[in-house]
Parts: sequence; structure tokens; C-alpha cells
Amino acid sequence: MTLIATTAFGLEGVVKREIQAMGFDIVQVKEGRIEFDARLTDIPRANLWLRSADRVLVKMGEFEARTFDELFEGVRSLPWEDWITRDGRFTVLGKGVKSQLGSYRAIQSITKKAVVERLKGAYAADWFAETGPAFTIRASLLKDVALLTLDASGAGLHKRGYRAHAGVAPLKETLAAALVQLSFWRPDRLLIDPMCGSGTILIEAAMLGRNMAPGLGREFASEAWPVIPSSAWHLARQEARAAIRPAGEMRIFGYDVDADAIAGAQTNAGRAGVSADIIFEQKDIRELWIDQQYGILISNFPYGVKLLDYKELNDIYISFNKTFRKKKGWSIYVLTADKMFPRYFKRGRPDRVRKLFNANIEVNYYQYYGERPPRKQQG
Ligand SMILES: C[S@@+](CC[C@H](N)C(=O)[O-])C[C@H]1O[C@@H](n2cnc3c(N)ncnc32)[C@H](O)[C@@H]1O
Repeated sequence: MTLIATTAFGLEGVVKREIQAMGFDIVQVKEGRIEFDARLTDIPRANLWLRSADRVLVKMGEFEARTFDELFEGVRSLPWEDWITRDGRFTVLGKGVKSQLGSYRAIQSITKKAVVERLKGAYAADWFAETGPAFTIRASLLKDVALLTLDASGAGLHKRGYRAHAGVAPLKETLAAALVQLSFWRPDRLLIDPMCGSGTILIEAAMLGRNMAPGLGREFASEAWPVIPSSAWHLARQEARAAIRPAGEMRIFGYDVDADAIAGAQTNAGRAGVSADIIFEQKDIRELWIDQQYGILISNFPYGVKLLDYKELNDIYISFNKTFRKKKGWSIYVLTADKMFPRYFKRGRPDRVRKLFNANIEVNYYQYYGERPPRKQQG
């Protein structure tokens, strides 16, 4: 069977590497989605372990549909009864982009009707109570091609369950995990986020460093599907728990000027099971003093307007520049919507600028590569 990991814009490469590292074969990569070969019993593992994907979907079918008849017949020809139980409750979410069928309401109702027709035949029934497990069907049309999927995740994978305190402008956990995976950070290297807010980037790094499955603390929609044996979930969770590496080796530091943010970050880290891996401290970035020659900095800067006035942001940039301009052993990764940032940080041109989206705002991930530490002197 084919599973689909959906991704935010620009994160396809990161998610593709995650999927390959789990041992799956990639079928195809498209904008916002990676398709891969899997077995039914891989659904728990994919949900538990994918760090930067938005959702895991089961691919039911893909076909051309320019008319409602074509959509109806295409949907009815798919084996819904293999998944949806006789008492299954199911919802259809429809979407039409650059297609002749553009009305999401019509796509939804046609799809629902076609699935009901299919199930009526398969179960020899006229009526369904819909009192059993929940199934969400997605019918997405793009350029007249309909993609039909079943959502195996339920709530988006960014909902890990550890973030009780979100702070003022929190990053999605999936994006934070991607920022870490796009950096040079490895668990033996020093990592700081000088404006860590609710601590998302550092918590995701610590979970990665400890080999913790990000989904261990939550449930998934497909856990209620009888087609997946509960033993598969049990085994995947057991394996994930056994894979966790002990705490104690990492050097991860988080600062923020806001005492409430730091308290929230500490609580969140505790809930994620990584409080022993991160040291949080209330500190203004203007007072940050770095004595280490080598390290990695990953941060999501305030963008002004919403969070700070212009003068304050200017001050932050000036002190950041002073602290890090000459630190050639530091790799610097900054996510911000402020396109002026590289003008203030005078270390040279960024080695790479990646366009991403954070809560629908276009942002850039500015990457400045530092020199690597000599082999013995880890830093
Ligand atoms: C965009 S938020 C970071 C959000 C964080 N990545 C998260 O996921 O929660 C920016 C943070 O910068 C902090 N900040 C603003 N001015 C600061 C300063 N002068 N020194 C340190 N932190 C500051 C704010 O308190 C805020 O938490």
C-alpha cells in the first residue's frame, strides 16, 4: 500500500529524508506530499516517528475527474469497505484547486454519496448507524486529478501533547523539528536558542538527540480502526520506548527575556521528558556572553510589528551582530519574516536562505555555516 506524508511548503526534502531513514521506499515526491511504500502495520510507526510531516494519510486512489459523474464513479470504485467498518462514522473534506470541479461542498457531498453507495453494496445494507470508529476521507482535486485518502493521524502531527504553554508566537513543533534537522546540530554539539519562547526548537532537538518518537505522548485517529491490529500499535510504542537514549550527554541552552516564557518552556520540557537535557534561564539577548569557540545557534526571532517596536528590534540586531559576527566556529540559523536581518548581521552573506511559512506568514531561514570543531575538541 501507499502512505502519504503531507508537509508544509519547503519541508518536502526533510520529510523525505526522515522517511528514507525509517527504511521506507519513496514512490514520489510532490509539492506538499511524499508518497512511500508501506504495510498496514507501518501506520503506527510512521505516525509515532515522523517529526516534520503534518499528517500521515492512506492513499486510496488517484484518478482524473472533470465531471461529477467521473468523481462519483472513481470514488465508488475504491475499496472503502477494506477500511471503513459497517458502523464507521465518516466525514469527507473536499478541496478543488485549478480544477473544473471547484466547489468543495459539491466535492464533499458527491464523495460521501459515492462512498455510501460502495458500502451499501459491500455490506448489503441500506442504512448505516455511524456509531463506530471515526474516519476522515479527504478528496482533493488538483488540475482535474482527484486524490482520495484516509487520514490516519487525526489531529496534526505537530500536536505532540507536551506543549501546555504556547507563549506569544510559538513555532509549530513540526517546523521546529525541521529547523533542527536542516542545521549542522548533532547531539554532541553545543546548541543555544537565545530567544526560545516556549522552548519548541530546543525541546524538538532534545527529543531528536534522545531518539524519542515525537508522537509517543498522544493518540492517532487510526488507533480506533479495527483493520490495524492493536498489537501493531502496542509493538510500535514498545519499540519507541525502548529506543530512547538516556539523558545527560547534551549541552542545550535556552534563554528568553520573558520570565513567564522561561517558566512555560521548563514545564513543556518536563512534559516532553527532556528537562534534564536543557538548561533554561531568563536572560536578555543584549546580555548574552559567549565564551565557547564552537556551537550552533538556532532561533526564531521576533518579527517586530506584532512583538516589538522597531527600536527594540534594532537593539537586538546590533547586540546579536556584536556577539556573533566574529564567532567563525558558530553555525547560525535564524528564522524571521524580517528581510532586513541579513543587512544587520554583518558576518557575510548567508550560505543558504530557505523560504518557508510560519503560521501562513512567509519567513526566511537564514543559514550561516560555521567552521567545524577539531575532532577531539567537541564544541
Ligand atoms: C517569535 S518568539 C519565539 C518563539 C519560540 N520559537 C517558540 O516556539 O515558542 C520570540 C521570543 O523572543 C523573546 N524576546 C524578545 N526580546 C528579547 C530580548 N531582548 N532578549 C531575549 N529574548 C527576547 C520574546 O519574549 C519571545 O519569546
